[in-house]
Amino acid sequence: MNDSTPDLDIASRIMSCIEALSAISESTDHLTRVSLSEQHKQANSLVGEWMTACGMQVHTDAIGNIIGRYEGSKEGPALLIGSHLDTVRNGGRYDGMLGVVIPIICVEILHKQQKKLPFPIEIVGFCDEEGVRFPSTLLGSRAIAGTLDEETLQECDASGISIAEALREFGQDPDQLQTARRHSEDFIGFVEIHIEQGPVLELEDLPVGLVTAISGASRYQIEVTGKAGHAGTVPMNLREDALTAASECILAIEDICTQLPDVVGTVGMIDALPGAGNVIPGQVNFSLDLRSSKDSTRDDAEAKVFSALERISQRRGVAVKPMRTYQAEGRTCDSWLSNQLASAIKSSGYRLLTLPSGAGHDAMALADLTRIAMLFVRCKDGLSHHPDESITREDAAATAKVLMNLLLQADLSDPQPGAAG
Ligand code: GLV
Ligand code: MN
Ligand code: MN
Repeated sequence: MNDSTPDLDIASRIMSCIEALSAISESTDHLTRVSLSEQHKQANSLVGEWMTACGMQVHTDAIGNIIGRYEGSKEGPALLIGSHLDTVRNGGRYDGMLGVVIPIICVEILHKQQKKLPFPIEIVGFCDEEGVRFPSTLLGSRAIAGTLDEETLQECDASGISIAEALREFGQDPDQLQTARRHSEDFIGFVEIHIEQGPVLELEDLPVGLVTAISGASRYQIEVTGKAGHAGTVPMNLREDALTAASECILAIEDICTQLPDVVGTVGMIDALPGAGNVIPGQVNFSLDLRSSKDSTRDDAEAKVFSALERISQRRGVAVKPMRTYQAEGRTCDSWLSNQLASAIKSSGYRLLTLPSGAGHDAMALADLTRIAMLFVRCKDGLSHHPDESITREDAAATAKVLMNLLLQADLSDPQPGAAG
């Protein structure tokens, strides 16, 4: 497998699996599949069928990850490969899913050839990477890494359903959370395939790239409390309008993140209560997502945002309470495993390009457990978290070839000792 001609039969298999998964949505006209939902259950079940059909032992763990294991010719630590099966609202069909489908298709090929590798392979479809339903995120990968505590299971979605309740509804027992936890001795490392979600590979005219590091991120819920009142009777200078105060906070956040180099800040959700056209909003809740490739820069941005919120709160006479709901430190990919992936890229006939990831990935949580490496796949116009997210069949095949070459050629059977790095 060392010329760079893509195998379009493999591409067809990949694309038909992606098509089938993208049809599992809470709406018929767009793709939304949040974690621990009925649609998530259906996606897990379909992925489980594919895994079983290619000779894998399949189970759903206590947090709702679907995991398949393809035994090797020898016992020993497994190579863990995977990504997530949840989506953002009105999302694309490749974010997460591609990283589950491609390894399954590679195992399907091995199984058809009755080929065993000198190490087992485990493929995982993580239950939650997007953090769309609950305030926390990376629930599945953190449960495996042993960094998800029981308390987090009490966090609730917008309808007041806790993660623990959602898990019960999903068919899992939240009291068994610890059984999802794995040990570093179980794994050689973790490899995640993901669309780039940015424009670099397209500009460089390359199907794939090797990820060097993943940016850290923090998420917050910000609660603004003013005083509801009659829209017709309360003079402008006597109002405690929570929504105008929130608007000022949001513009201040934009300003801070624009001034600081290497920081991005996004307010993606806002709720104004009581929510009537003739009532001054008394309460507003909004989200904030802050990221930087440097944790210290993100901390600096957080401090500046908090003090701007405090100033606005004082001046407008409303209470502004920011709560951090999630924080992930930036992570560097493991050099040993990344070198193996780099060799597979080169032996597949592609120039090696390294790039960092601004988006978050399950790999950042797995880094607490084992070595991580990531392969990015070119996506059209660098577009993601959007229904027009797209990749070519050629690039899908190229990615499968790189993974296949990693599995067949890399020296993974006798890994160096040592885990998270
Ligand atoms: C996931 O897509 C994230 O980076 O938030
Ligand atoms: Mn993703
Ligand atoms: Mn995403």
